Amino acid sequence: MVNFEYYTPTKVIFGKNAEEKTGELVKAQGCKKVLVHYGGNSAKRSGLLDRICKSLEKAGIDFVTLGGVVPNPHLGKVHEGIALCKKEGVDFILAVGGGSVIDSGKAIGYGVANEGEVWDFYAKTRVPKACLPIGAVLTIAAAGSEMSNSSVITNEDGWLKRGYNDDICRCRFAVMNPELTYTLPAYQTASGCVDIMMHTMERYFTKETDTALTDGIGEALIRTVMQSARILKENPENYDARAQVMWAGSLSHNGLTGCGTVGDWASHQLEHELGGMFDVAHGAGLAAVWGSWARYVYKEKPERFAQFAVNVMGVANDDSHPEKTALEGIKRMEEFYHAIDMPISIHELGVDLTEEQIQELAYKCSFMDKRTIGQFKVLNRQDIENIYRMAK
Ligand code: NZQ
Ligand code: ZN
Repeated sequence: MVNFEYYTPTKVIFGKNAEEKTGELVKAQGCKKVLVHYGGNSAKRSGLLDRICKSLEKAGIDFVTLGGVVPNPHLGKVHEGIALCKKEGVDFILAVGGGSVIDSGKAIGYGVANEGEVWDFYAKTRVPKACLPIGAVLTIAAAGSEMSNSSVITNEDGWLKRGYNDDICRCRFAVMNPELTYTLPAYQTASGCVDIMMHTMERYFTKETDTALTDGIGEALIRTVMQSARILKENPENYDARAQVMWAGSLSHNGLTGCGTVGDWASHQLEHELGGMFDVAHGAGLAAVWGSWARYVYKEKPERFAQFAVNVMGVANDDSHPEKTALEGIKRMEEFYHAIDMPISIHELGVDLTEEQIQELAYKCSFMDKRTIGQFKVLNRQDIENIYRMAK
């Protein structure tokens, strides 16, 4: 088990009607003016946005609104938000939405609290000193941004999707009412479930040893999300399944399932390039590449994949054939993705890659041939290309 730091400062308000407390939660932050940040139409259509604004009014909070955040959120909207916040003297950001809205809010928070171009932080050429405080009202269980230290932004100039991780952006509070996710399209629910599972799987596939407790937490989390995803496919308004998934989404990306391990994150890096270039749903993109990644790397430590196969995928234990057990586990995970209507190839994701595009993706993913990705197996530009080709 490696040394670790575990920091989760986010206050969680979970359950039915939780959003009614938003005004009081914001008031407790002692801010002067709030930016209410939201996405396309879903929060307006459901009436949630109205209820949040009324809750703020009731608490006597001054606010301005900015909607229009798209999935795979754009830098252009972030710039718009920064300008608005500066003009209006905003000192707190309330994100009402999913990972895209929260991430856009975090980026605006960096942009307001620091001089200069905010993209520098995502391009890793500068480090921010501060971030405006942020709160979230979550409407989709997926990215885990409500408790993570991460935000991911797409720069329309070159369609580069880049993440920046820093504890200073962690939400002060997260309001989570599972009922708010009833209105999600089935594809978004399933895609969210994959992302949640992947946040634990990225941490689980490690070469570290003596991680029994972290393994057990992670395995239970993945099994629970799989079970709930199957229920939600049949009954999207099953409160208990929605609640399990929502809570799993936060725990899967707040660091808990990675305590003592060294995360891999190659699948995420592979997906981010697909998201930047083809605007695919993040979780679906992960499902499309994971099996190919797994088959490319499992021989580094087949026992780890075999443990996953037995403890998560229900494969019979066979110590004498760890490679066989490992491959059976990978196959069953792909069967599960299909069972919840998720893709297991880039073609099924709706993108038919040309050889040129494979090379472009690998070039961008390797930061123009300047970095490797992954820890379980370190992958260079050529490896990345091979995996995109396998996943095609
Ligand atoms: O824009 P609206 O109309 O709200 O529609 C959204 C959007 O189309 C819709 N939606 C959200 N809540 C809804 C709803 N529709 C009906 N009813 C509701 N209650 O769902 C669509 C997807 O929303 P989005 O916020 O994009 O989803 P998600 O939470 O999956 O976020 C994805 C983004 O987060 C990044 C991803 O790369 C992607 O850009 N990630 C962020 C992470 C982080 N900050 O820690 C970690 C992740 O690994 C991930 O990379
Ligand atoms: Zn993710």
